[in-house]
Amino acid sequence: MNDLAGKHIVLGLTGGIACYKAAELCRALIKEGATVQVVMTYAASQFVTSITMQALSGRTVYDSTWDQRDANSMPHINLSRQADAILIAPCSADFMAKLLHGRGDDLLSLLCLARPLRTVPLLIAPAMNREMWLHPATQRNVAQLRQDGAIVFDVGRGDQACGETGDGRMLESQELLEDVIAFFQPKPLAGHRVLITAGPTYEAIDPVRGITNLSSGKMGFALARAACQAGAQVTLVAGPVHLSTPRGVSRIDVVSAQNMLEATVQHAPEATIFIATAAVADWRSAAAAEQKIKKDGSGAVPALSFVENPDILATLAQSPRARSGALYCVGFAAESHDLLAHARAKRERKGVPLLVGNIGPATFGQDENALLLVDEHGSTEMARDSKLSLARKLIADIARRTGAGAKK
Ligand code: C5P
Repeated sequence: MNDLAGKHIVLGLTGGIACYKAAELCRALIKEGATVQVVMTYAASQFVTSITMQALSGRTVYDSTWDQRDANSMPHINLSRQADAILIAPCSADFMAKLLHGRGDDLLSLLCLARPLRTVPLLIAPAMNREMWLHPATQRNVAQLRQDGAIVFDVGRGDQACGETGDGRMLESQELLEDVIAFFQPKPLAGHRVLITAGPTYEAIDPVRGITNLSSGKMGFALARAACQAGAQVTLVAGPVHLSTPRGVSRIDVVSAQNMLEATVQHAPEATIFIATAAVADWRSAAAAEQKIKKDGSGAVPALSFVENPDILATLAQSPRARSGALYCVGFAAESHDLLAHARAKRERKGVPLLVGNIGPATFGQDENALLLVDEHGSTEMARDSKLSLARKLIADIARRTGAGAKK
C-alpha cells in the first residue's frame, strides 16, 4: 500500500532515547509513500546524528533557526508551509511545555508556532520516563495541547530505558505509522460503533478433531481496520485466525458458532452497524465426544451426526433494533458460482439491506478480492483490489447508505 502517497511530513525530533525509533519511523513513512523533512533540536542530536536522519530521509536535516540555505532565510515559515502535517516523535516533556506556551527559541518550536493552524495539523508522540509522564504538569500540558488542536498520540507501556516500568515509552514505529495513516483517512463513521464477525468457526467433533473451513479472516480484519480508521469504535469477533489485531480495534476471540453468536449478541445493543464476514460453519457435531474417538483397526467408521448452527446474521437482522433501522446489517456470501443469483437470494433470506458477494476460492487466504454489492435496487461491482482498499470503499459506501457520511 502507499497510504501516505503525496503527503509531505515534517518529522521533528526532540531529546529522548526514543530518537532511535524515529529513525525507523522515518523509513516507514517513506516506504508508505510520504516525503519526510527532518528537523532536530540540539537535544535530539545528542541521541541520533543528523547524518543518520539525512541518509534515511534523503534530505538534509534542518536544526537551526539561522539556517541560510533558503533564499529568504526563513526556514520556520518555509518548512511549515510545505507540510501536510508536522509530527513530533519523540516529543519530550520539555518540548510539550514549550509548545504549550507558544515559545519559539529553537527552529522546531518556532515552526510549530508559525504553522497555519487550520491546514497543518500537529501530531505529537510523547516519550519520557513514567514519573515525568504522570506528573500533573505533563498531564495538564497534554490536555491543553489537545484543546489547542494538537493530536497527542498514546504512549506505550512497559520497560523503559531508565530501568523503570510504566507508561511513557514512545509507541513503536509501526504503531505510530498506523496512527498517522489513520489520521489522514476521512472520518465518516465518527460516533458509530461497528460490530464485525470474521474468520472461520471451529466445531469440535472430539477433543482433537473438528470441522472448520479455509476462511483466513483477512477481509473481516481489513474491514475492522478500515472502520476504525473511518472513526468508528470497532468490536471484532474473531474465529480462530492467525492475524494481528488492527490498531485501535477491540477484539474478542471465539471458537465455535455458538461462542460467536453469544459474543455478537452481547455487543449488538451498542452497535449501529453490523458486518457479518465470518464463514460460520453451517453444522456442528450433534454431540461432541468428550474423549478422542479411537480407531480400533476393524475398519469401522464412527457414526457422526450433525445439527445446524444458529444463523448469527439472521438473528441480528431480525432484532427490533435492526428492524427499526438503529442497527444496519450487512451480510457476506462466499460462493463458487452464480454469485449474483445466490447473493440476491441470500439477501432476501437473511433480511438484510446489503449483501456483499465474493467468490470463495478467489478470496479465502488471499490479499486481494473482488466484491459484488447487492441491495434492493440491484447490484454494483467493486473490481479486484487489495482487501484493505476494498474495505475502505465498502466502509465509505456503508457510511453513505446509513447517512453517516452525509452528516459528517
Ligand atoms: O448462509 P450463508 O452461510 O451462506 O450466509 C453467509 C452470511 O451469513 C455471512 O454474512 C455470514 O457471516 C453469515 N452467517 C452467520 N451465521 C451463520 C451462517 C452464516 O452469521 N450460521
